[in-house]
Amino acid sequence: MAQLWGGRFTKATDQLVYDFNASIRFDRRLFEQDVKGSLAHAAMLAKQGILTKEEKEAISEGLQGILEDVKAGRLAIDETQEDIHSFVEAALIERIGEAGKKLHTGRSRNDQVALDMRMYTRDRLLETDRLLKELLTTILHTMEENLDTYMPGFTHLQKAQPTTLAHHYGAYFEMLKRDRGRLKDIYRRMNECPLGAGALAGTTYPLDREYTASLLGFDRVTCNSMDSVSDRDYLIEYLSALSMIMMHLSRFSEEIILWNSNEYQFVEIDDAYSTGSSIMPQKKNPDIAELVRGKTGRVYGALMSLLTTMKGIPLAYNKDMQEDKEVAFDAMDTVRNCLLLFNGMLQTMKFRPERMAESAMKGFTNATDAADYLVGKGVPFRDAHGIIGRLVLYCMEKNTSIDGLSLEELKGICDKFEEDIYDAVSLKACVERRLTTGAPGSGAMEEEIRRSREYLEKD
Ligand code: ARG
Repeated sequence: MAQLWGGRFTKATDQLVYDFNASIRFDRRLFEQDVKGSLAHAAMLAKQGILTKEEKEAISEGLQGILEDVKAGRLAIDETQEDIHSFVEAALIERIGEAGKKLHTGRSRNDQVALDMRMYTRDRLLETDRLLKELLTTILHTMEENLDTYMPGFTHLQKAQPTTLAHHYGAYFEMLKRDRGRLKDIYRRMNECPLGAGALAGTTYPLDREYTASLLGFDRVTCNSMDSVSDRDYLIEYLSALSMIMMHLSRFSEEIILWNSNEYQFVEIDDAYSTGSSIMPQKKNPDIAELVRGKTGRVYGALMSLLTTMKGIPLAYNKDMQEDKEVAFDAMDTVRNCLLLFNGMLQTMKFRPERMAESAMKGFTNATDAADYLVGKGVPFRDAHGIIGRLVLYCMEKNTSIDGLSLEELKGICDKFEEDIYDAVSLKACVERRLTTGAPGSGAMEEEIRRSREYLEKD
């Protein structure tokens, strides 16, 4: 048991209370942020004449030494300390004596933890952005290679209209691109420094908050000191962005699981990203995709947990807020692992274009195009819709496709059919005619790919 307070207490803390209250077990991962924040704080105190140059130098050297020693494994983070802030301060005092006791001048653990958590979150957010960019690069590569890999597009999980693998992947490109946009917005809003807010009401020392903020790479300082110590909005926003990323990865996973199934066989997940069954020798299971889908709930859970923790907290700092850490750290780690593994799975996954095309051909995905063909021959669309409906029924009875029928059979249903119907309903023609912006025709897709490439190059 080691703590930074105790002067006004006449009894020692009960061990169970101490353990329940302590956070070092999980906030130890804020170690680097805590030391860097303290270095900046000490530099600012010296600049303002609150610490002497000698005191500041002793503190800086001590903190640098602690940072290096912990990183090199020469100094262990002492888990009998209450939290990481107490550990760093105690280690400093042990190393440099009296001057170490001055570091906490004009500072409270409330603005200190607000700073550490913000700095940590800022780093993790940039990491998420980088991983998203890597995944987008993989997706774009597949798009470029598969402009004419035809496949069925679905609605209600029923085959609807033909599209291409490039087009399908393009949808995920857009989702993850928006995810990056959200991260950028959050970063812009959150990149302000709370240090100097003190416990809640600022401090009487003449601190230069702007200076500390600039040393730590912040764009500006936070405004109201009560808000500064009790704000976790940025973390909730980040967890919300992470939840959205997981929602997208989960949808993508669900599709890959379907595509990899015995029924679809559109793709084959690489052996390195699959697992077997202990009893059924034939099995190769898409566990990674399933786990990504499964872990989505856990990230949503972190978001709900923090929203709920924060909803009843009066201003300013309350200990409830310590509960932000474990769930947020878990969500950050989960999303990092999911992004890494998902990218690896996509990079090694094999496509089976012949199966995709066959599925599109067999599923009457060209029915709309067949109706459009009749419209071209002067039949009103509503009538054409009915005619093709009957045609599909006829094909189903004969177990064939529209282009599997003879011209005679087609004319038996509508005399407007001519020899050119076969070209009109070929998969290639159906896709290539779709040229509106955002559509799967290669003319439109080439433009989409060009824009996407440009986006990745500049952002
Ligand atoms: N471990 C605490 C947290 O994570 C640090 C802040 C402590 N402040 C306090 N007033 N007890 O929130």
